[in-house]
This record gives sequence, C-alpha cells and structure tokens, in this order.
Amino acid sequence: MQSKCIVLTIIGLITLSLCTMAHAHPEVDLEELYLELSKEAIACIECHKKESPGITADWGAGVHAKVGITCITCHKCEVGGAGLSRGHYKQYQRSDHKYGTSAYRVPVAALVSPMLCARCHFNEVKEYSRSKHANTLELIWKIDPWLRYGMNSDTERITGCFVCHGSILKVKDGKITSEGWPNVGVGRINVDGSRGSCISCHTRHKFSRAEARKPEACGRCHLGPGHPQAEIYNESIHGAIYRSEGDQWNWNASTREWIPGQAYRSPTCAVCHMCKVGTTAMTHDVTERLSWELQAPYTVRPSDFEPFPAKTDWKAERNKMKAVCLKCHGKLWVDNHYIQLDRVIKEYNEVYFKPAQDMLNRLYKNGLLDKSVPLDEQLELEFYELWHYEGRRARMGAAMMAPAYTWWRGFYECKKRYNTFMQEAQKLLSTKQPAYRYQDLPNATGDTEVPRRLSENSDPTAKE
Ligand code: HEC
Ligand code: HEC
Ligand code: HEC
Ligand code: HEC
Ligand code: HEC
Ligand code: HEC
Ligand code: HEC
Ligand code: HEC
Repeated sequence: MQSKCIVLTIIGLITLSLCTMAHAHPEVDLEELYLELSKEAIACIECHKKESPGITADWGAGVHAKVGITCITCHKCEVGGAGLSRGHYKQYQRSDHKYGTSAYRVPVAALVSPMLCARCHFNEVKEYSRSKHANTLELIWKIDPWLRYGMNSDTERITGCFVCHGSILKVKDGKITSEGWPNVGVGRINVDGSRGSCISCHTRHKFSRAEARKPEACGRCHLGPGHPQAEIYNESIHGAIYRSEGDQWNWNASTREWIPGQAYRSPTCAVCHMCKVGTTAMTHDVTERLSWELQAPYTVRPSDFEPFPAKTDWKAERNKMKAVCLKCHGKLWVDNHYIQLDRVIKEYNEVYFKPAQDMLNRLYKNGLLDKSVPLDEQLELEFYELWHYEGRRARMGAAMMAPAYTWWRGFYECKKRYNTFMQEAQKLLSTKQPAYRYQDLPNATGDTEVPRRLSENSDPTAKE
C-alpha cells in the first residue's frame, strides 16, 4: 500500500496520524509519458483512472509505467483471439466519456499469460515453466487421493486447492468461466497452453521485485499443517532478524546491489531459493538448490521422485544452496547443518515411515484394511497424517532451522501418532476384525478424470 504517513507521538499522550493515500493518482508523470503514446493507449489510462483507480495507481507506482509499458502493451489482443473480452467493446460506445468512442477502439483481453511477459523476460519464463511450481497441476493429478478418487467437491477444489496450485482456464462464449478464474495459482494452465502465473509473487499491477523478495509473498501458500514454511521461517533466527530490522533493508536494490551484508543481513525465502547470491545465479525454478523431496511420504532425491523426476543432480543443487549460506557463514557451520539435516531424514524414513508402512501393508494383505479407497478408514488417515503433517514438519523444520517444528510439532507428534497407529493395528491383528469403513465422505462429487489439457504440450517456450 502506497501511503505516506506522518506519525507524531507527543510524550505518549497524543498519537496523531495523518495518512494521505497516494492511491488516487499514479506516481508516474503522465503528461510526459503521453508524449510517447498512441491515442488508443492514452484512452486506456484516462478512462481507467476514473473507472478503476486502484489498478491504475498500482500500475503507475510500478517499474513498467516508468519505462513506458502501459495497459495496451499487455492487454491488447488479436481480434477473435483467445480471451478477447467482447464485453469491453461497449466501453467505446459511451457518451459519458471523452475516450469512450470508436476512434479509440482496440480489442482487449482480460487474461495475460506468461507468454506475453516472455516477450521481454524470456529467461524468467523459461526457467519458471520447467519448475515444479509451473507443473504442479499435472503432478497432483498423478498422486493426490482427493483428486484421483473424487473425495471432495469441485467447489472445494476451486476455492481451496486450485487457489494455491492453479486452475485450468476456460473461455466460453467470449467469457472466462468461474471454474478457472479469478485465479493466480502457481501452476495455472493458460488458454494458450502455457503453464504458470507470474503474478503469484509479483502481484498486479505493480509487478514488483521488492515484493517477491519478502517472505510474505511466499507465505500465503507455504503455510499450514502440511507445509508450514512461513511459520518455520518466522520461528527461525533468520526470520526473527527479518522481523526486527527488515524494514531498514534495501528491498529495491538492483540484482547487482542485492548483496548480503549490504542490502540485507539475514536471508528471506527468496534469498535462499531464488535470488542471485555470490556465485549462485538467480533462478525462477524453485526446484533448483534442493537435495531432498521433503514433502514426499518417503524422502528421496529430487531426481528419484517418480511422479515428477527433477532433471537435477542433488549434489550440484546442494552446492548452490551452500554457496548462498557461505556468504554469511563458515564452511564447518554449513556442512554440519546439512549433516544434521541428513540425520533427520534418515531417522524419519527408517524409524517412523518404513515400519508404519510395513504395518499398513500387512493389514491390507490380511484383509483387515481395504485398499480400494484411500482415507476411508481411521488407520489410513492416521498414516496419511503421520507423513503428511508431523512427518513433513520434522523434516522441514530441520531444513530451515526451526527446532519447535522439528521436535514439538514434528518428531514429538510422530511418536504419539506412531503409538496410536501401532496400538490400533495390533488390535485388528489380534481380533481379526476388519476395520470400520466410513460409509459417507460428504460431497465426494469431484471429477476423477484427469483433465485432458494436462497431457498436452506444456512448454510453449520450447519452440523458440
Ligand atoms: C471509456 C472507458 C474505457 C476505455 C477507453 C478503456 N476501458 Fe477498459 N474497461 C472500462 C470499464 C468500465 C471496465 C469494467 C467493465 C466491467 O466491469 O464489466 C473495463 C474493463 C477492462 C478490462 C477487464 C476486461 C474484462 O472483460 O473483465 C481490461 C483488461 C481493460 N478494461 C483494459 C483496457 C485497455 C487495455 C484499454 C485500452 C486499449 C481500455 N481498457 C480502455 C473502461 C474503459
Ligand atoms: C505488464 C503487463 C500489464 C500491464 C502494463 C497492465 N496489466 Fe492489467 N493485467 C495484467 C495481468 C498479468 C493481469 C491478470 C490477468 C490474468 O489473470 O490472466 C491483469 C489483469 C487486469 C484486469 C482484470 C483483473 C481485475 O482485477 O479485474 C484489468 C481490469 C486490468 N488488468 C486493467 C489494466 C489497466 C487499466 C492497465 C493500465 C493502467 C493495465 N491493466 C496494465 C498485466 C498487465
Ligand atoms: C514490453 C516489454 C515488457 C513486458 C511485456 C513485460 N515487462 Fe516486465 N519489465 C520490462 C522492463 C523494461 C522492465 C524494467 C527493467 C529494469 O528495470 O531493468 C521490467 C521490469 C519487471 C520487473 C521488475 C520490477 C522491479 O521492481 O524492479 C518484474 C517483476 C516484471 N517486469 C514482471 C513482468 C511480468 C510478470 C510481465 C507479464 C505480465 C511483464 N513484466 C511484462 C519490460 C516488460
Ligand atoms: C494454502 C495453499 C494450498 C492449498 C489450499 C492446497 N495446497 Fe497442496 N501444496 C501447497 C504447497 C505450498 C505445497 C508444497 C509442499 C512442499 O513442497 O513442501 C503443496 C503440496 C501438495 C502436494 C504434494 C506435491 C508433491 O510434490 O509431492 C499435493 C499432492 C497437493 N499439494 C495437493 C493438494 C490438493 C489436492 C489440495 C486440495 C484438496 C491442496 N493441495 C490444497 C499449497 C496448497
Ligand atoms: C515464486 C515467486 C515468483 C514467481 C511466481 C515469479 N517470480 Fe519473478 N522474481 C521473484 C523474485 C524473488 C525475484 C527477485 C530475484 C532477486 O532478487 O534476485 C524476481 C525477479 C524478477 C524479475 C527481475 C529480474 C532482474 O533481473 O532483476 C523479473 C523481470 C521477473 N521476476 C519476472 C517474472 C516473470 C515473467 C514471471 C512469470 C514467469 C515471474 N517473475 C514469476 C519471484 C517470482
Ligand atoms: C500461489 C501459491 C504459491 C506461492 C505464492 C509460492 N509458492 Fe512455492 N509452491 C506452491 C505449491 C502449490 C508448491 C507445490 C508444488 C508441488 O510439489 O506440486 C510449491 C513448491 C515450492 C517449492 C518446492 C519445489 C520442489 O521442487 O519441490 C519451493 C522451494 C517453493 N515452492 C518456494 C517458494 C518461494 C521461495 C516462494 C516465494 C518467493 C513461493 N514458493 C511462492 C505454491 C506457491
Ligand atoms: C536459510 C535459507 C532458507 C530460508 C530463509 C528458507 N529456506 Fe526453504 N529450504 C532451505 C533448505 C536448506 C531446504 C532443504 C533443501 C534440500 O532439499 O537440500 C529448504 C526446503 C524448502 C522447501 C522444499 C520442501 C520439500 O518439499 O522438499 C520449500 C517448499 C521451501 N524450502 C520453501 C521456503 C519458504 C516458503 C521459505 C520462506 C517462508 C523458505 N523456504 C525459507 C533453505 C531456506
Ligand atoms: C544473509 C546472511 C545469511 C545467509 C545467506 C544465511 N544465514 Fe544463517 N544466519 C544468519 C545470521 C545473521 C544468523 C544469526 C547469527 C547468530 O546467531 O549470531 C544466522 C543463524 C543461523 C543458524 C543458527 C540457528 C539457531 O537457531 O541457532 C543456522 C543453523 C544457520 N544460520 C544456517 C544457515 C544455512 C544452512 C544457510 C543456507 C541454507 C544460511 N544460514 C544462510 C545469516 C545468514
């Protein structure tokens, strides 16, 4: 929010706050900009300044306005092109607005895909489109029980899962349907077949680099019981330093000046996972720098993760991440951190996951649990939560320096879960009574067919 606030505190008695919203007018000098623009391009800004001042001010406060990239650059589309807003033509038949006449008429699309950004930011789009972020829909349709078995409703998916993971956009009768939009999930499938959404982190219409460097940009998706990276970061020393003094860091620094020790003192999510730091190059592929699949039931190397094998070598990626740490820490400190992490992985895999899985398989074999539907028996749920909740928290807490997540919300809860799981399993084995099956999963009405567009060509940038 662009607001200029003057806060005067008079000996703790009166706090007077004068806030002037800079939202009503763009920060860019429009008169100067208009000298370079076509009359159609000026019309967009002039009309939208009135009709949608929020959007226009955001655009005006961002870098694009300063370099002459305006509404028309991103939204003009082919006549009859995918995503064309037929309704917008009406704006050029208005008698109440100077620019509302056919002299300014241009075909406009509401949708703007990464392929448009690729015209000027080719590398970012190329890297992004090979990442797990961009391909997550294909992946979750391969492995997720809620989707594959239709165990929740399409409404729950559209307003839950797909807000983070991304939707499949559809246009019907010149209108984008409500099954897919609004949506800015990381793996959105666009009407041109491209994957992903740049505005997941660079929100429109500022498209700011500074915003994406802050942990809040990631934390709106990376939180909660199964992937609490935001909470983990908050708890770590790195996050504590960010909270205590981050407002003084130079967030707008260029890539060259975004240097540890100069622009910032402790890393954010983006610093460790994406930014250029020392010899580690900037990347829009968050799968880089990872040496484990910490979210998987059984932890494996990224290249061995069958549903979506990364085309990376874990040792090389680990060295990239280590090179980031080494800008602020010594080698022994960093090496020992990874030794500790690897011990945690081994402990989780061997002590908790494998024995629980062996027991589950034994129950299936003995007919005490039914394998045809996942999560319809208490023990299946217990097993799911063992790896999906506390098992993930233990591993991720250790990877990102949050002892409360490694132990109290992690291994401690693994122990509790493990014991109740084993106790119940022993009971079934001794009584030879098959487990109770939940008869009714409310609203298990979701489509189980894998959307066809997920198997089509995924990387339009590959053609160049
Ligand atoms: C005379 C006024 C006017 C002009 C000129 C104008 N717009 Fe709009 N535009 C509107 C209004 C009003 C809406 C909202 C319509 C609605 O909510 O249904 C709108 C909606 C939009 C949308 C969303 C479309 C959709 O279907 O949801 C986009 C994108 C857009 N305008 C871009 C542009 C661009 C780019 C230009 C210049 C090429 C432009 N507009 C010129 C008034 C205008
Ligand atoms: C750098 C490219 C870019 C520029 C410049 C740009 N937009 Fe957009 N705009 C986008 C993107 C990306 C979206 C999200 C569309 C999507 O979901 O595919 C969007 C969405 C929109 C929407 C529909 C979403 C909503 O919140 O209703 C409107 C309206 C809109 N833009 C108007 C404008 C106007 C007016 C301007 C100029 C003041 C402008 N845009 C400049 C890229 C741009
Ligand atoms: C016509 C070319 C063009 C298009 C299209 C374009 N950009 Fe840009 N973008 C630029 C230029 C030029 C800069 C400024 C580069 C600089 O400062 O070095 C920029 C800067 C940026 C920045 C850095 C902003 C900052 O705070 O420094 C981001 C993020 C960005 N663009 C995202 C996008 C996204 C997302 C899209 C698509 C919705 C897009 N751009 C479309 C040309 C474009
Ligand atoms: C708040 C945002 C959010 C919501 C809502 C959400 N997810 Fe996720 N999901 C994530 C994040 C973030 C991860 C990444 C976990 C990691 O790598 O640590 C993830 C991971 C996953 C994975 C594991 C993918 C892999 O690489 O192994 C699956 C499967 C999945 N989600 C499916 C779903 C389904 C199905 C729903 C709805 C029933 C859903 N998610 C709801 C954010 C979300
Ligand atoms: C997961 C979050 C995320 C997504 C999604 C994302 N970006 Fe970025 N982007 C960042 C971060 C973080 C930076 C800052 C990197 C740095 O400081 O070195 C950045 C920087 C940039 C820059 C400035 C690069 C430079 O050299 O200064 C551009 C341009 C950009 N992004 C474009 C895009 C485009 C285009 C997309 C869509 C393909 C996209 N981004 C999607 C997080 C994201
Ligand atoms: C709109 C939601 C969203 C935002 C914002 C977001 N992510 Fe993600 N991220 C996801 C989802 C969903 C996944 C899980 C993909 C999967 O495993 O299928 C994921 C996965 C990841 C992964 C694991 C990749 C892998 O190969 O296992 C990393 C690392 C990551 N994100 C980092 C970030 C960072 C850093 C940011 C902020 C700069 C960020 N994300 C912003 C949704 C998001
Ligand atoms: C100090 C550096 C650092 C910071 C800060 C950091 N991470 Fe991580 N992150 C790591 C390391 C190290 C790993 C484990 C890498 C490996 O696999 O070798 C990791 C792993 C991950 C994973 C992968 C989990 C999986 O399923 O495999 C995700 C997702 C992630 N981080 C997201 C985030 C988000 C979101 C933030 C900010 C809220 C963040 N990280 C902050 C260093 C960091
Ligand atoms: C931009 C600088 C910077 C980067 C990059 C960075 N750290 Fe840190 N780290 C710090 C600072 C500052 C502290 C607090 C120092 C102290 O405790 O005196 C810290 C503390 C730590 C701690 C102590 C945590 C605790 O609770 O005791 C560990 C472990 C750590 N970092 C590991 C890493 C690892 C591993 C990486 C790379 C994945 C990394 N750091 C990247 C600056 C950084």
